[in-house]
Amino acid sequence: MLLVNIKELVGIEEKGLLMKKGAEMSETGRIKDAFLITRGKKILDYGPMDSDAYRKYLAENHRVYDMKGCVVMPAFCDSHTHLVYANSRELEFVDKIRGLSYEEIAKRGGGILNSAKATAAASEDELYDMAEKRLDEVMRMGTGAIEIKSGYGLSTESELKLLRVIRRLKETSPLTIKSNFLGAHGIPMEYRGHQQDYVDLVINEMIPLVAAEDLADFIDVFCDQGFFTCDDTERILMAGIKYGMRPKIHANEMAISGGVQVGVKYGAISVDHLEQIGQAEIDCLKDTETMPTVLPGCAFFLNLPLSPAREMIRQGLPVAMASDFNPGTSPSGNMQLILSMACIRYRLTPEEALNATTLNTAYAMGVSDELGSITKGKIANLIVTEPMTQLEYMPYFYGTNKVAKMILNGKFVS
Ligand code: NIG
Ligand code: FE
Repeated sequence: MLLVNIKELVGIEEKGLLMKKGAEMSETGRIKDAFLITRGKKILDYGPMDSDAYRKYLAENHRVYDMKGCVVMPAFCDSHTHLVYANSRELEFVDKIRGLSYEEIAKRGGGILNSAKATAAASEDELYDMAEKRLDEVMRMGTGAIEIKSGYGLSTESELKLLRVIRRLKETSPLTIKSNFLGAHGIPMEYRGHQQDYVDLVINEMIPLVAAEDLADFIDVFCDQGFFTCDDTERILMAGIKYGMRPKIHANEMAISGGVQVGVKYGAISVDHLEQIGQAEIDCLKDTETMPTVLPGCAFFLNLPLSPAREMIRQGLPVAMASDFNPGTSPSGNMQLILSMACIRYRLTPEEALNATTLNTAYAMGVSDELGSITKGKIANLIVTEPMTQLEYMPYFYGTNKVAKMILNGKFVS
């Protein structure tokens, strides 16, 4: 496919960087009046319309698509979601408005346990149908790759059910999907007071079965005040690593929990949330392979303090931003909104926000060698926007869907 008359091609990365940190985050290649050509699934070449390369491709017999006045950019990678769930939780939303905190709701058996009850009652087919619809919706809003966690099962049977749904989505969806086993998401009521027994169940029963069916790319733990301790987390991560799952964890949403340090110690590909983070955590993340990942939708929905993304970048860290799509703390998988919040609430420039939601999230889900930027040889996962002037319009004009068409694996899928 030869895409022509692209108003602006953005998100070009030619240095082969698999993620961007510190000052690099404001770098992104941009070409006005551009073309882009794909071959099969991949990006073959791109450049200005006014070039010999373009005239050569035009003379060859390619299918030509006129991008009249549209921006073309890499599809979003959403590296943190809980998209497979059975029920919405809008009444807890009202409880929160009336003054209850997320932790209070969880303590009385709401929150994650509420979702677990509904998940246990739903069949695999029902869960698949609901998830598939959500996946299609987020794709139409620009997402081309997505990580999906289990974690609303909290029993061996239900966790396996959720992971099998994710496997089916991997097989049927045009999106690139990574799965994450989050058996340690909440402590079931019957284990309250002897939480260790639940941790043992995760380690001794769930992880071996998940591995036997090869159901998880990553292992996750909700390491936070009121949920799993650092000791629990270490034990679970070690067990997951033994079975080939790379850690990718929830940390520091409710409190400075030590979760960041545990994640870094076990080589986590990302530590996510980070609403509660101090200099010790920032220092600990420096020069590591762990991607600090901020979840603006969750902080917005729960009115949490904002993670100091600007300061992390100033100190040379990379920052990724993902949706955290889930029914309890972020009921939206709209990555365009995350892009806008990155700029408006966290003061990232549009270029930084673009890198935070494409290349850096691709890194945080282990796919940045193939996705997350406009790079020759990478998979052609592209957003074609509605007609617009330039990249900056994308975060600026928030609240409407500005994605006109999606190209995944070199093919138009919407
Ligand atoms: O990332 N923090 C833990 N897990 C989810 C919320 C889960 C829920 O409330 O359903 C999150 O915010
Ligand atoms: Fe989450």
